[in-house]
Amino acid sequence: MERIIQTSVEKATELLLQGEVVAIPTETVYGLAASISFPKAIDYIFELKGRPRTNPLIVHVANIKQAEELCKSFPEPLKKLAHQFWPGSLTLVLPKTKHVSNQITAGKNTVGIRVPNHPKLLQLLKKTGPIAAPSANPFERISPTSAQHVADYFPKGLKMVLDSGICQAGIESTIVGFENNQVIIYRLGAISIEAIENVVGKVALFDSNQSNVVTPGMSKKHYAPKTKTIVAENVKDFVNKNVASKIGLIVFKQSAQLEVAKEVILSPSGDLQEAAQRIYQTLHELDKLGLDYIVIEPLPNEGLGRSVNDRLSRAVHS
Ligand code: TXA
Ligand code: MG
Repeated sequence: MERIIQTSVEKATELLLQGEVVAIPTETVYGLAASISFPKAIDYIFELKGRPRTNPLIVHVANIKQAEELCKSFPEPLKKLAHQFWPGSLTLVLPKTKHVSNQITAGKNTVGIRVPNHPKLLQLLKKTGPIAAPSANPFERISPTSAQHVADYFPKGLKMVLDSGICQAGIESTIVGFENNQVIIYRLGAISIEAIENVVGKVALFDSNQSNVVTPGMSKKHYAPKTKTIVAENVKDFVNKNVASKIGLIVFKQSAQLEVAKEVILSPSGDLQEAAQRIYQTLHELDKLGLDYIVIEPLPNEGLGRSVNDRLSRAVHS
């Protein structure tokens, strides 16, 4: 059988233009992509992921101009953010035009759009036009940050995973919209709140505990490893109370000096960006070790640390 992990951008482009689903690299995480012109392929993305059809997909484009064709209006603060961060790990939620189907937006009148910061993908997008792509993981599993993660998740059903090594940001894009005349962050991600506030001033933060707004990606439980995963303020306490268990420990910059089956230090130099880049990769690795628990020390709650803590709070088993 032909190996599905391949490196040809031309081949991926060709398959997408034929209406196939292809896994693609982005600078955040790998995505499961289809051209927005092929409803059957879009449908197949939902099927492959096991994703409820009520959860909209985001659309990736090559530049702002392409984005403008997909939205009815572009509120000034969001445009400022686009100019500042595109290409980059920022998804903007904008009122959609008819070029974007209800199938993609799950019936919403808005569409999430981003211009990814990934040379190979931009090269591809220039030829394919807009492509819809959620993260390339089955529903409720952690996002993939390497081509191999994707191939492991979907051993069948995919013609190609376009390999471009390990994702440089390592966590999903930050999702931002504009509601009631205010910039609102729907999902914390690879661009920090501080960086966004530097451009547009104080922003609102979507509260997932509020039950009146339904954005499935905001649901509290998401992105779970198979191993029972815990974020512990006091890892020492947890380890000491569970001495008989096989524990994989993930810490930020310093060893916890505890007797555990495995310890991973995310960034010995204390760099939050490096920690963000490595967190999913590490979870994928530890998930394969047959551990009883993965125990994670929360990162400092600022910058990308806050984004990672937010992502992790959705990965823990409660
Ligand atoms: O970094 C990323 O954003 C990756 C890469 C592949 O680009 N994509 C990604 O897609 O994380 P996905 O589908 O796994 O997460 C997108 C989230 C979903 O939780 C979805 O509910 C939300 O974005 N979303 C999509 N369209 C939306 C909209 N119009 N309004 C509000 N939320 C939306
Ligand atoms: Mg996802």
